[in-house]
This record gives sequence, C-alpha cells and structure tokens, in this order.
Amino acid sequence: MRVPYSRAFFELQWRFAEHVTAISGMPLDRVLLHYTNFYIRFGLGREYDATHSVWRMYLDGLAIATDPVDWTWRLFLARPSVPPPSLVATFGCFSYADAGDDCMRLHFANAQSCECSPLSGACFGARRAELRALFAHARQTHPSIQRVLGTSWLYHLPAYRRLFPMGYLETARESSSRFRNMPLWGQFLDRHGDVRPGIRQQFLERLARVSDMRDLARCFPFTPLAVDAPVALFDGFYDENSHSSFAPDCR
Ligand SMILES: CC(C)(COP(=O)(O)OP(=O)(O)OC[C@H]1O[C@@H](n2cnc3c(N)ncnc32)[C@H](O)[C@@H]1OP(=O)(O)O)[C@@H](O)C(=O)NCCC(=O)NCCS
Repeated sequence: MRVPYSRAFFELQWRFAEHVTAISGMPLDRVLLHYTNFYIRFGLGREYDATHSVWRMYLDGLAIATDPVDWTWRLFLARPSVPPPSLVATFGCFSYADAGDDCMRLHFANAQSCECSPLSGACFGARRAELRALFAHARQTHPSIQRVLGTSWLYHLPAYRRLFPMGYLETARESSSRFRNMPLWGQFLDRHGDVRPGIRQQFLERLARVSDMRDLARCFPFTPLAVDAPVALFDGFYDENSHSSFAPDCR
C-alpha cells in the first residue's frame, strides 16, 4: 500500500516546530498542536483539543522517545486514515465537502495508481472527468449549493489552475497562513508523499533566519489562496467538447 506522507514530511514540520518553540517561548506541546499538521494527520479532526486521549498519548510517548520524529511517524502509520470533515463524495483526486451556508468545499489529493503526476498534461482529461462527475453529483444531490470554496497553495500552479473556470480563479485571495493545514504544508510534497529537496532546503534556510513570529509565513514559498465563486460558473465547463487539445488520458 502507498503511504501518502513520508517520514520526511513529519521531520520537516518537527524542525519548524522546534524553531517556533525557540523564538516564541511557547511550550513545544502547544506548538505541535497549532503549528504542525500532526493533529489532523493522526485523524483527530479539527477541534485541536489538547486533552484528546490520542494526542495525550502522543505527548506522553514524546516525553520518553529517543527519536521524536520516529515516534511521530510511527504513530501516524498506526492511525486510521480519516476523511476531511463533512466529506460528501470523492471522485479520483477530487472530493468535496459540505461547507454549510449553501457552500461546497473542494479538496485535492493524489489518488492515482500510476506513476505519472496527477497534474500532468497526460492526466488532464482524467482530472476534468473527475470534476465533471463531482459537479454533476453536487448539482443532483445538493441542489441548494450556491457557491464553491477552495483554499490551497495549488491555486498558484498553472498545471492546477487550468482545471478551473477563469471566473473561479479570479476570486483568489491570499489566505492567512494556517500552520496546521494541508493548504499550506502540501506544497512540500511530491506525488509520492516525499518532500521536495529543493524547497525543503530553501524553507529551512529561510526559517533559520526568522526570529520574529510575524515573519514565519514568509518561509513558505507559496501562501495559500482562497477562492469563492458561484457554482453556476462550473455549469457546462467540463463538457466533453469544451477542451479537445490534450493528450490521451492516463488512469
Ligand atoms: C500536487 C502534487 C501531486 C504534485 O506533485 P508531483 O505530481 O510529484 O509534481 P510534479 O513535480 O510532477 O509537478 C507537476 C506540476 O506541478 C508543478 N509543481 C508541483 N509542485 C510544485 C511546487 N512545490 N512548486 C512549484 N511547482 C510545483 C510542477 O512545476 C508541474 O507543473 P508543470 O507541468 O506546469 O511544469 C503534490 O504536490 C501533492 O500531492 N501535494 C499534496 C496535495 C495537497 O497539497 N493537497 C491539499 C490541497 S488543499
């Protein structure tokens, strides 16, 4: 089975947490809760409850661990995979959640079994087909949905942006850095869940120079972008004949 997040992904966040602890004076356990993606990766939800029994077990284990990153990684491996909150349906790499107030929220994760990048030109048709099915499902089963929301570093990438209507992308606004979430941390990953060496290096160099908490977000190459647009913009956008110039699909 493919492991979606490598040990290096946890190690990078551990290094970040250590630095935040050093410059902020906050206790490490609090920093791990609020400045890493660990709580979510352990499948504990989005409550960030410092008294959660699994979180307490994690901290207790840390106190005696000879290799804290290893302990973190092994606990992640032992935990069940938990979908995002209020998830409605998944279509390949895309899924959507009920975001309340007649809004849906889009999510992306590499779900391909083949080796190629899910954002490659060869997979463009497959991604569009997933989005076509997703929006058809949303329109049929949740007709009250009026708006589509998304927040991700991915909206910076031309290879991702080309999958969406221009009117949707034009609403993109920088989102304040949420140090606990994948819309920020996902930028360090490649499709295998490994950390990209180049941006890791750049990130750690920048981090080493930061002494003020207000500068933390600047260590990350991409600031997450938040989009929010009417669902009507997607009507017909993924019809078969609206794009025809791409290579055969990879599945
Ligand atoms: C998106 C993801 C699959 C890309 O990994 P990959 O397929 O190994 O990436 P590749 O190196 O093959 O790049 C694919 C394309 O994305 C671009 N890209 C991917 N990661 C990038 C990064 N960190 N910085 C700049 N460009 C990047 C590449 O330049 C390439 O674009 P191009 O075809 O226009 O040249 C991977 O980053 C991932 O799974 N991330 C986690 C997903 C995530 O963040 N989900 C939560 C979203 S809220």
